[in-house]
Amino acid sequence: MKTLVSKRLILRDLNINDLVPFYSYARKPNIGPNAGWKPHTSIEESSKILKMMISDKEVWGIELKSTNQLIGTIGLHVRNFDNAVNNVKEVGYVLDDAYWGQGLMVEAVNAVLDYAFINQELDAVFCGHAKHNIQSKRVIEKTNFLYTHTEPRDHFDGTKVDIMMYELKRLDYLGGKVNDKSKNEIRL
Ligand SMILES: CC(C)(COP(=O)(O)OP(=O)(O)OC[C@H]1O[C@@H](n2cnc3c(N)ncnc32)[C@H](O)[C@@H]1OP(=O)(O)O)[C@@H](O)C(=O)NCCC(=O)NCCS
Repeated sequence: MKTLVSKRLILRDLNINDLVPFYSYARKPNIGPNAGWKPHTSIEESSKILKMMISDKEVWGIELKSTNQLIGTIGLHVRNFDNAVNNVKEVGYVLDDAYWGQGLMVEAVNAVLDYAFINQELDAVFCGHAKHNIQSKRVIEKTNFLYTHTEPRDHFDGTKVDIMMYELKRLDYLGGKVNDKSKNEIRL
């Protein structure tokens, strides 16, 4: 995957050396369930999932420049047939709770949106959060997605959770960048 660099972060391919930091946050009860997945119960389980993500090539490791440590992941996914046909993808992310509240995920999402719209030329990107997940809602709002609808999705415990879905269209994103000089330089 293309490496993406922002002010404080490097978004890069995951590798097996990420296993220990990956397991250390994936086991926490406040990380996975907010993104719909069960906390990992062993390093072996994390190893299998990490290897799957490495081979799928849809997820970047989020590395903090100042420590070269893996602190989370962010992915750009084709969720279903309609996504592929309509040239759209869905962004999903998690961050170790030791790094919450510093605007790091907004920075990561903006780097991925540049890549999605400028390099991949997608027509739109979707993002969703469980109704109760106000932290993710704030990231989505701060990256200028617009609410579209709410849909039920399977939760890891067998229940259904209402996911609030948002969309950002390519033309709105590129138009916004032209008018917002504080964002990264646009590279067309
Ligand atoms: C959602 C998540 C990625 C946000 O990342 P982040 O880098 O902390 O985002 P921000 O720094 O922009 O903070 C987002 C909001 O969370 C709030 N916040 C930060 N730490 C918090 C905490 N410990 N408890 C409650 N709210 C907190 C911030 O105040 C901010 O709100 P504001 O913009 O109104 O001030 C992160 O919380 C996370 O990984 N959560 C678990 C997994 C998850 O929910 N993934 C998304 C699935 S849809």
